[in-house]
Amino acid sequence: MGRDLADVLISEEAIRARLAEIAAEVDAEYAGKDLLLVGVLKGAVMVMADFARALHGPAEMDWMAVSSYGSGTKSSGVVRILKDLDRDVLGRHVLIVEDIIDSGLTLSWLVANLRSRGAASVEVMALLRKPEAAKVAVDVKHVGFDIPNAFVVGYGLDFDERFRNLRVVGTLAEHVYSS
Ligand code: IMP
Repeated sequence: MGRDLADVLISEEAIRARLAEIAAEVDAEYAGKDLLLVGVLKGAVMVMADFARALHGPAEMDWMAVSSYGSGTKSSGVVRILKDLDRDVLGRHVLIVEDIIDSGLTLSWLVANLRSRGAASVEVMALLRKPEAAKVAVDVKHVGFDIPNAFVVGYGLDFDERFRNLRVVGTLAEHVYSS
């Protein structure tokens, strides 16, 4: 799989260290509160698993699956719920755990959706953020890394369902797109 990467943007160690920093901030912010982590499948699986374990305080986890991308690399702008949360978020303090914010379309829709269900608070933690995301009027409380505007894979992120299990975040080599 290593041959398929053009560049490693973020190493395993850097991800681990940054998640520990964010977890310490989140522990302080939610001390004494009932925290619900909401992960967006499938991309956020790795960040949720590592981030949740970096927290010291209690947190529940729930998952949603939404469609925003087809099998290519462009955002469709259409968000559809493929799998909804298992439990009600009414009165809960929700922290959305996202892999990456690109156009921000998925995220702004998700924040509005969870607020409309009566969550006590809805905040966002995203491992990666691309420059376009700055244009979206969604307040992202915690960002792991700001990255350049390139298509990235690994650590949960895929290209046509491949490369999610890479331990690093990287850009793809040209031959992967053209094959
Ligand atoms: P947005 O709605 O444009 O912010 O995109 C949200 C979703 O698109 C993310 O949760 C990812 O699943 C996917 N996505 C955006 N950029 C990338 C990328 O560079 N690589 C892989 N998936 C991406």
